[in-house]
Amino acid sequence: MAILKVARLGNPVLRRPAREVPAEVVGQTDFQRFIDDMVVTMREYQGVGLAAVQVHEPIQVAVLEVADNARYPGKEAVPLSVLINPEIEPLGDETEDDWEGCLSIPDIRGQVPRYKRLRVTALDRDGNALDFVAEGFHARVIQHEVDHLRGHVYMDRMPDLTTLTYLTELARYWRNQ
Ligand code: NI
Repeated sequence: MAILKVARLGNPVLRRPAREVPAEVVGQTDFQRFIDDMVVTMREYQGVGLAAVQVHEPIQVAVLEVADNARYPGKEAVPLSVLINPEIEPLGDETEDDWEGCLSIPDIRGQVPRYKRLRVTALDRDGNALDFVAEGFHARVIQHEVDHLRGHVYMDRMPDLTTLTYLTELARYWRNQ
């Protein structure tokens, strides 16, 4: 397995919509190895999610996992999951604001409004159809990763940029907000 290089903001690969993964590709050894590489890369950089475009592959694959993450303390756990060709549909209009960061935008956080509940359809890494409801931080991570697969980053979703902050200033000035 290999730790992959993460594209940073400004790299055009982050701004192009990713292609759908054809069903017949899912079982291929190279594709499965790529997913393993995405998982080790996400864990290496303590991400809670990683989209394939962030590692220079413009295909619709995202991995996510939330488990005692030092970059996002106190968030509810999400088991390791692989979403291929994900589609999301908000369930209700309710949104909430919370801090987000991105491995492609190091050391910065901003408050982003996201839908609280979503219906998610996708394929898992074995090509099985998934259809589930995600809520709270889980729903937030999925919206963030699906945005990547459409060529968006979280800053695109901020109604204003006044909460953008470096991590050190977050700890110093924003701790109670
Ligand atoms: Ni990101």
